[in-house]
Amino acid sequence: TRRHTVLIDVDTFNSQRKFLPTKGRDLWHSDFVKMPCSQATNQKSKWDVISKKLKSLASKKTVSVKDVEEAIIKYNPKYKDQWSFDALHTFNKNIPDTENYFKTLFPKIAALALKLPDFVNKAIPLLRKGQSATITLSQVQISCLLANAFFCTFPHRNTSNPTAEYAGYPTINFNSLFGNWSERKREKLRAIMHYFKEVTDESTRPKGLVTFHRECLSYTDMPTWESCKENLSKLHITSEGQIELEGKGMLQVDFANSLIGGGVLGSGLLQEEILFLINPELIVARLFTEKLEDNECLIITGSQQFSSYSGFGDSFEWAGPYEDQSERDQWARRKTQILAIDAMNFRHSMDQYKRKHINRELNKAYCGFKGYDGHEKPDIATGKWGCGAFNGDPQLKALIQLMAAAKAKRGLAFFTFGDEYLKQSLQHIYELMFAEGITVGTLYKLLCEFSSAKHRDSDVDLFDFIKKNIRNSKSHL
Ligand code: APR
Repeated sequence: TRRHTVLIDVDTFNSQRKFLPTKGRDLWHSDFVKMPCSQATNQKSKWDVISKKLKSLASKKTVSVKDVEEAIIKYNPKYKDQWSFDALHTFNKNIPDTENYFKTLFPKIAALALKLPDFVNKAIPLLRKGQSATITLSQVQISCLLANAFFCTFPHRNTSNPTAEYAGYPTINFNSLFGNWSERKREKLRAIMHYFKEVTDESTRPKGLVTFHRECLSYTDMPTWESCKENLSKLHITSEGQIELEGKGMLQVDFANSLIGGGVLGSGLLQEEILFLINPELIVARLFTEKLEDNECLIITGSQQFSSYSGFGDSFEWAGPYEDQSERDQWARRKTQILAIDAMNFRHSMDQYKRKHINRELNKAYCGFKGYDGHEKPDIATGKWGCGAFNGDPQLKALIQLMAAAKAKRGLAFFTFGDEYLKQSLQHIYELMFAEGITVGTLYKLLCEFSSAKHRDSDVDLFDFIKKNIRNSKSHL
């Protein structure tokens, strides 16, 4: 049985009433997000302090970074000496006057955070490991939850102690974004502040819905890869463009961390973190998504892109507002689909050629590519998944994704991100395999043979190996 919890405002979305959880709004319970505004015994007095502070900020015309810091520490006194706000201070000083609207924005974020008991008046279930489940929130609810994350109102999560309640969850409060100044932090804060500017302004406040679906692939649904009869699906390869721009309208792959969003609230600035900064609504997934297991993924439908950017890593720059004109469904939900799948992190490169690891990556990709009931299934936009920070071999990862897409009967657009060599060699090997009418099962067996060959001689190149063995393998396998 699958759970779908819709937390949107009942009056606006009456037809969804049947999905609303029946257990009430204030569950201080291990299956639900522990909310800062909970009336549970321990938390009630904390919300009194928080809301008093936020009210005082919200009532002012201008609020300084010092005021923000003082408020946050007031209701998080334990972290007075641990949390630093130097990045927020330096950011505020360094930003040109024309762009410095923060003094007047802070009171608006505080006012938005205060609406939490009204805007999110149902308990939010946790998307736990081992279960497929869905949560739908309105974009306004998400903005309110993120305003609370900005003001660090969520009960602290002890993520370092493996036996603690939230050990398997990402962090959600923004405190780590405010300390350890760097140019990366400046660009991250520009993107985040722009998001809050848009969502607190009546004329630009977003009106749609966003759905978060955790898919857990059961062991019985995992393909027996060696006996898959599907032919390869269509493949488009380009060295130009990016998944999130040129891949609009497709299922866009997030090269994720098992803790969703990775280092978005810290200093990380790779594909996933950038995606989360330009679509900040994705960050709210950190509130309720437990660490992804090997057979799981998260699919987010309807998030809005607020910012443009340029660069990658240290060269990342916020490049101004983005007007997201994506097509919407009947609930004003954007049709944008983002698929978070975490590749394995191969500290020792040779590990990835082990059969069990090839299987793990195939099943992870397939879990995301197969889609879920009632969900549209556009082609997939992906690229060098797992091949940057996680040290994967782009040739192997491209074939793994191609096989998973074929099994899921979906086309693939592959963005090599400027890698001309990969573009050409992949195009060549794909045409060869296609001409030979190779099936997913045959390719899997070739990969297994390659795995043994690679362990005998670490210099063997995957595409060369396929070229040499494709004819033999077809007749012998
Ligand atoms: N579109 C297409 N390709 C891209 C894009 C993009 N927008 N951004 C980056 N790439 C290419 C680059 O060539 C990059 O080296 O994908 C490669 C892999 O990207 P990484 O982000 O390094 O992905 P991965 O190796 O899977 O690392 C995942 O990084 O962002 C964190 O939280 C994430 O911990 C996780 C880890």
